[in-house]
Amino acid sequence: MDEPPTGREAVAILDFGSQYSQLIARRVREAHVYCELFRFDAPVDEVMALRPRGFILSGGPSSVYEPDAPTLPAYVLESNLPVLGICYGMQLLAHNLGGRVALAQRREYGSALLQVTDLGCPLFLETPFAHQVWMSHGDRIETLPRGFSVVAQTDNAPIAAMAHPGRRLYGLQFHPEVNHTPTGRDMIRNFLTQVCGLRGTWTPAHFVDEAVTAIRQQVHDGLVLCALSGGIDSAVTATLVHRAVGEQLTCVFVDHGMLRQGEPEQVIHTFRQERGMRLVAVSAIDEYMEALSGVTDPEQKRRIIGEKFVRIFEQESRRLGYFRFLAQGTIYPDVIESAGAGRPGAHRIKTHHNVGGLPEDMQLELVEPLRFLFKDEVRAVGHELGLPDDIVYRQPFPGPGLAVRILGEVTWERLEMLRAADAVFIQELTRTDLLRQQEGEGTAQAFAVLLPIRSVGVMGDERTYAHVVALRAVTTDDFMTADWARLPHELLARVSNRIVNEVPGVNRVVYDVSSKPPATIEWE
Ligand code: XMP
Repeated sequence: MDEPPTGREAVAILDFGSQYSQLIARRVREAHVYCELFRFDAPVDEVMALRPRGFILSGGPSSVYEPDAPTLPAYVLESNLPVLGICYGMQLLAHNLGGRVALAQRREYGSALLQVTDLGCPLFLETPFAHQVWMSHGDRIETLPRGFSVVAQTDNAPIAAMAHPGRRLYGLQFHPEVNHTPTGRDMIRNFLTQVCGLRGTWTPAHFVDEAVTAIRQQVHDGLVLCALSGGIDSAVTATLVHRAVGEQLTCVFVDHGMLRQGEPEQVIHTFRQERGMRLVAVSAIDEYMEALSGVTDPEQKRRIIGEKFVRIFEQESRRLGYFRFLAQGTIYPDVIESAGAGRPGAHRIKTHHNVGGLPEDMQLELVEPLRFLFKDEVRAVGHELGLPDDIVYRQPFPGPGLAVRILGEVTWERLEMLRAADAVFIQELTRTDLLRQQEGEGTAQAFAVLLPIRSVGVMGDERTYAHVVALRAVTTDDFMTADWARLPHELLARVSNRIVNEVPGVNRVVYDVSSKPPATIEWE
């Protein structure tokens, strides 16, 4: 599945190290154009295999005059395809075509007012005359290369946008891909439609057709195994593979006992009963409880849960017959992250071992239909495939499940306590419509955490010494940064009251008011 299906409109984005490169790709996809992100020095064959109809050059932290600065590969201009250079990408264009880039005295960072000076420029078609744009650059262009003209300016940057319509080369000094440039989406779409001449036919339905064909070609009459966790990625993967090869697919669902209330039943019902898929459910709760007994270190919990999953999955796969293929829900950000490993700024803060992380020595060929999709596209495809909303819009849930929301030792009793408290919180949020059901406004993730302490309380005439539950709810777009959700006090009061009354062993509820950073979303 590494080869993207051909015969469709695509553009290539070359990544020069900007923190916003993935965002460019997302904006292009939002305009219904397929694209892939490549390192600037990716082999030409790899990039051209996409049959791009245009290039976008990302920004980057370098200056074109630095000795080791990333350079513009020759094939980009030789291809005679349209090019949009953003920030460093624009400077590279200018530098390579004989313009002059001035070294920065200081960085320009923040909002600026852009004035379009050439209203005929296709990038600004049907957009206002003035735009709020986001600047984040050091160097800037002082002299245009031959054949180019200025199409927009700001107070600080007389050449804020440049164009050579004849050669279909464009440069923007600011970042159209970020939310701080509200009309940036339109500029990117205009580049794709007006300059590259693309129609924007990349839709979920189109993707499903392509993916089903590609899976059939890859798998033929082979048997496919898929680990189903109930999460959106594995759910959509399994559903796609099932649509492509039906009975040749067997799904394995391992219940490790650390899912939320009702989840195991929901997974089994949806895929076995509703979808008629061959689903083998393995209950491994005792085995997990034993392995986790006495373990309090979060990383060790993750490791144990991950390793145990691999072992159980291998065992099942041997028991169930001969499988040649393994379907996995790898998505594009995972691919980009592993390809970009070692990029500056890509520090790993904590390991996100997923229960779906599978053994490398299983010798199965991978089927990864979502390998080139972003999360919101996976949801759109799930929707297209008719999966229920509570799977499609399920809030993110860590692979190790409730184990990383129980601080300290994971025992069955503590799991049941947390599960019950969490269910109350989610019920109340859902009832008041405060949990985000789709992309957009609202709480993106909310859950309960069981703390490893007890506190004194009073219930009736009795002194209690019982557990503390923390509630966590965040608003975020990307889960990289997050703010604590300003939930109504009445709602918090109701949740607290219900938890203390309905969950034996809990006498205190607290609300987490930390943002990320400095805190993370999960507590472990
Ligand atoms: P943090 O806690 O790092 O979480 O702010 C960011 C997002 O990632 C999820 N998360 C995990 N997902 N395995 C996962 O699959 C993990 O070990 C894990 N830890 C955190 C978290 O729920 C949030 O959405």
